[in-house]
Amino acid sequence: MVESHRERSFIMIKPDGVQRGKVGEIISRFEKKGFKMVAMNMTAASKAHIEEHYDEHRERPFFPPLVSFMTSGPVVAMVWEGHNVIKTGRKMIGATNPDNADPGTVRFDTAINFRKQIIHASDSKESAEKEINLWFKSGVVDWKHHSEEWIYE
Ligand code: PPS
Repeated sequence: MVESHRERSFIMIKPDGVQRGKVGEIISRFEKKGFKMVAMNMTAASKAHIEEHYDEHRERPFFPPLVSFMTSGPVVAMVWEGHNVIKTGRKMIGATNPDNADPGTVRFDTAINFRKQIIHASDSKESAEKEINLWFKSGVVDWKHHSEEWIYE
């Protein structure tokens, strides 16, 4: 298999996305695009776990409300695999503030609150690796997609 097809991104549906019933729609968008899900876990993450996930923002004023929001309910943590999935995943979710998100993105189509915007996606190869290791310590599935030849030619 071509190595670039194995790129992986960490995608998380936030508590508001779970509570508003967006899990199926979000999974469907990534499947429709042609990406492969290689890990998924619905979990009520601990405060320490969320703090570790957002470690780079510890000193920011929004850190306490962010941690409080992210521990207010279960999240759906996933790893998606495919060519350019990190950059494309970010495009698919749209800008952090839904007011600035493009039509057709998850955040434009489903969110109007800049503090509660449904979804997280890794923003670089480094953050994807760190996040996948944090959320899926025992690893992800390694599987061959039967229709791979129809996605990548
Ligand atoms: S940065 O570094 O200034 O660009 O930070 P930014 O990407 O805008 O925000 C980092 C993450 O913090 C979330 N955020 C918030 N969540 C809840 N409440 C408030 N007030 C808030 N402010 C920022 C923002 O959605 C980013 O989360 P992720 O999961 O990375 O999208």
